[in-house]
Amino acid sequence: MPRPSPAWLLPPLLALLCTAHAHPGPNFVIIMADDLGIGDPGCYGNQTLRTPNIDRLAREGAKLTQHLAAAPLCTPSRAAFLTGRYAMRSGMASRGIMGVFLFSASSGGLPTSEVTFPRLLQEQGYATALVGKWHLGLSCHSPTDFCHHPLRHGFSRFLGTPTTNLRDCRPGGGTVLGPALRLVWTLTLGTLGAGLASLWAWRTLGARWWGVGPVRVPLWAWSAVAVGVAGVVGVSLLAFRAHFRLANCFLMADLAIAQQPTNYSALTQQLTDEGRDFLRRHVATPFLLFMSFLHVHTAHFAGPKFAGRSQHGAYGDSVEEMDWGVGRILDALDELGLANNTLVYFTSDHGAHVEEVGEGGERHGGSNGIYRGGKANNWEGGVRVPGLVRWPSVIAPGLEIDEPTSNMDVFPTVVRLAGAELPGDRVIDGRDLMPLLRGHTHRSEHEFLFHYCGAYLNAVRWHNGSSVWKAFYFTPNFDPPGSNGCFSTHVCFCFGKYITRHDPPLLFDLARDPGERRPLTPEAEPRYHEVLRTMAEAARAHTATLDPVPDQLSLANVAWKPWLQLCCASRPHVFACRCADDDGQGRPDM
Ligand SMILES: *[C@@H]1O[C@H](CO)[C@@H](O)[C@H](O)[C@H]1NC(C)=O
Ligand SMILES: *[C@@H]1O[C@H](CO)[C@@H](O)[C@H](O)[C@H]1NC(C)=O
Repeated sequence: MPRPSPAWLLPPLLALLCTAHAHPGPNFVIIMADDLGIGDPGCYGNQTLRTPNIDRLAREGAKLTQHLAAAPLCTPSRAAFLTGRYAMRSGMASRGIMGVFLFSASSGGLPTSEVTFPRLLQEQGYATALVGKWHLGLSCHSPTDFCHHPLRHGFSRFLGTPTTNLRDCRPGGGTVLGPALRLVWTLTLGTLGAGLASLWAWRTLGARWWGVGPVRVPLWAWSAVAVGVAGVVGVSLLAFRAHFRLANCFLMADLAIAQQPTNYSALTQQLTDEGRDFLRRHVATPFLLFMSFLHVHTAHFAGPKFAGRSQHGAYGDSVEEMDWGVGRILDALDELGLANNTLVYFTSDHGAHVEEVGEGGERHGGSNGIYRGGKANNWEGGVRVPGLVRWPSVIAPGLEIDEPTSNMDVFPTVVRLAGAELPGDRVIDGRDLMPLLRGHTHRSEHEFLFHYCGAYLNAVRWHNGSSVWKAFYFTPNFDPPGSNGCFSTHVCFCFGKYITRHDPPLLFDLARDPGERRPLTPEAEPRYHEVLRTMAEAARAHTATLDPVPDQLSLANVAWKPWLQLCCASRPHVFACRCADDDGQGRPDM
């Protein structure tokens, strides 16, 4: 009897082989620090902070010296990073005071209509994980629709915090909300006082009416309203203050709450172990691991191995602990034999937060080296960040690249290497870094880059010939004047009385003046008018590519919405939102 031909096996077998081997792209480990300045790592010139593991990446790979965050603030910079597009395009750029999400129960976030590089890699068969900070929204309409959650954006595993580390999250860490709350508190007490005074006037002086011009209100009604409003606002404030930490500072494991509130005692260890476990589980599959450290944002924290050990107080301890975490991940790659075929990228979401000062007046923000400004403004200190790329079999060790590059470049770089297609239906602002990293070209593909402060176009950068022109349409009003930051408001804002507009724009050539100390004049720079004309034209052309999209950081979208509050307890009640077993894992009930 003729044996059945095994030919029918061939097509599926071939298909299997093709899917498994069509795209033998490298693995990716993406490491992002929070608020780390370019003046902090040893490989960028710091001689007193110890960052041996970050420095190792520079020695074994490429160091980018003009690497730029697409925005000087966490939420927009991270949105741009993951989508390869300016945050304006996804609506993740704010027009108001709140440039980031402060509450876990806000409705804004990265829309699922955006395409992230983790999603494209996931579709390509990559195992993908996010460990650490997300800060790009959580839910839209109900506390468990998770419309903005990392698992909706291409990550198959998430362990971390949906929002960000904040002073108010760690007992003893101080407060960033304090000044705003104090203002509301003062107004509340004032209203209460006015209400009680009119009550007194009504009872003892026999006054009957309170009025302005033709408007007359019975005094008893006015005092009842004032006392009532003050009472409700006052009690809500106290409740908010008491429960901010529980409501906003928790760790999630995928869609469940793992710890509420976050326990800082071994947090870096826990996150690093999660990253190492992920690597161990995926030795045989291509993977993307995004280590998004909570360090070195305040509240600073460090385990016993690092607390009090650095030369730079709590800030230095925090940097050194993060560097240890980086080392643990690199060690795991070595131990598992994955280092040669893994592209490791290290960066910070934006410059150091120079206005951060601890309770006792000590510096809690990092160093931006020779650069002016810092987090939340577009002076170089706010946007020029560390950028290291290691891929031993491909990138020459010790390579240094001074060309302008952007954190948005990771998108096309990683997507192409993974063998995926770039989305053809939208503008991608990032450029493939591989030609520079392979040494195939010495020229960055970026001719113009745009610096946004929230939703406002703040400055344009033009890389032409040996010049790097930067033209500011406005600059932040530093406070106190002459200082290097906006100390009275803790961060600089992007509009109104907080800025000074410049017409003609303030022009610098960063190639000659990286510290942005000497604005150029038509007398000193013969190309002045030509440069400004070219840059204005580029800004116009860029602006024309922006489509109107919903504002994810509108007041309605950043406000705290009680009905979106996630809580690990079965009967949600602020007092009961506390879950942590002895092993540090909560017992979520969803
Ligand atoms: C090194 O970093 C610390 C902490 O940010 C900072 O105080 C110091 O000025 C830095 N040193 C240099 C040379 O930038
Ligand atoms: C821009 O670069 C081109 C080519 O190097 C050069 O001819 C031109 O003068 C440059 N323009 C300015 C304004 O620097």
